[in-house]
Amino acid sequence: MTGLRSIDGTASGPAWDYDKLVFEDRVHRVLYTDPRIFDEEMTRIFGAVWVYLGHESQIPAPNDFVATRMGRRPLILVRDSEGVLRALYNRCTHRGSTVCREARGSAKSFQCGYHGWTFLNTGKLNGVPWPDGYADNFDDEKFNLAQVPRVESYRGFVFGTLNLDAPPLIDYLGGVAGPLDEWLDRHPGGKVVLCEANRLKFKGNWKLLYDNSADGYHVVFSHRSLLAMENRFDEDGDKGMAFYKSNPDNAPMYVRYFGNGHHFKDKRPNVEDRPGALWEIEGPHPGMEHFEASLRQRLGDKADRALDLASSEPVNINVFPNLHILGNHIQVSTPVSVDETDTTWYGTAVVDEDGDLEGTVDAINALRMRTQESFPNFGEVDDLVNFEQIQVGFQAEEDEWVYMHRGLGIPDRFQVDDDGVITGPPTDEVFMREHMREWKRLMTAEPRIAIARAV
Ligand code: FES
Ligand SMILES: [Fe+2]
Repeated sequence: MTGLRSIDGTASGPAWDYDKLVFEDRVHRVLYTDPRIFDEEMTRIFGAVWVYLGHESQIPAPNDFVATRMGRRPLILVRDSEGVLRALYNRCTHRGSTVCREARGSAKSFQCGYHGWTFLNTGKLNGVPWPDGYADNFDDEKFNLAQVPRVESYRGFVFGTLNLDAPPLIDYLGGVAGPLDEWLDRHPGGKVVLCEANRLKFKGNWKLLYDNSADGYHVVFSHRSLLAMENRFDEDGDKGMAFYKSNPDNAPMYVRYFGNGHHFKDKRPNVEDRPGALWEIEGPHPGMEHFEASLRQRLGDKADRALDLASSEPVNINVFPNLHILGNHIQVSTPVSVDETDTTWYGTAVVDEDGDLEGTVDAINALRMRTQESFPNFGEVDDLVNFEQIQVGFQAEEDEWVYMHRGLGIPDRFQVDDDGVITGPPTDEVFMREHMREWKRLMTAEPRIAIARAV
């Protein structure tokens, strides 16, 4: 990035012999309980790979900012006055206080609340109170805010890494960019804007969420009450996630692993590929009959497409280590400590810059918000209870292993293409075996970690 100088460093060696903790079929419980491993992850995972920081629609104009985190590091994701995306450390260079205590806003500068040092939104120190009390030259760049040396955006999704040797973002994403493109391209103009969020917290390790993110094995057991609610008024019982009933492996959906820890559970093949098919499997939502009747009256033949835009897209796209696209949501997970994690579900809205939706975009988004209220409130809570109960189970320290061997050793269970992309049945744990293999590789690699400062 121009106008920045990197301050280089290299992570020190691993604290554990990971060959004794990560096997093909199982991992050791200490991956989820040992604070020393968690501390290493904050450098070797959350410092070394491209970490999702936010969405460009949260900061559309110059000077817009949003508070975020990279692992535990508090950051301000900002579009500076020149329009450059930056991820500033929210950490005063004087004695360490945060310089921004707002969740979002617009600011040309940030003034530390402790002694009033003020920084431009490029990170450059702009002034200190009563400078004649200092013998220093405040032009020294060491007083400018630290910032993430590499920030890149892919179609609105903004990522950062401290690793000077990391590949370009597009190469890191690799094959998972395909499902991300398809998810975006179903919307007018190929884009969405973020709405407000469901903010949840669980007392469990961050990896429990990642391990669950392509898991098709748990759905009918863990989400039984949600499935029942979705089908409460349906005689055939085919609404919502009903395609998981009986044996999900006999359904046309699949799980795919792309490398770099990214995976994808594609449930779209369970639904007919025609306008209106997605809307037909939506469960009950408040006011849906009124919105449907009104959209049909206004749009005629085009109403099915509009109703599909309000419907949940049946995908789980998981970008290691912290970004999940589920239905119409952008879910972000943020580790807090070895046994505490924040997870935020941002709703997304449709934009209609070209007028394709004939003035109905607000009605579509109102209905889309109703459909988006369902999973975080009625499904995610099931998952978080499981994660918390796993963390409780892990306190049985003599019982050491976590098994992830479903599908392992069964001939012809998976297809592997020429690029190494693996495709398998939706209940198999192949996705977890693969991201754990990547986790081990990262935890034993030597990333070249650096911060930068404006010059
Ligand atoms: S800690 Fe920020 S001005 Fe002193
Ligand atoms: Fe779940």
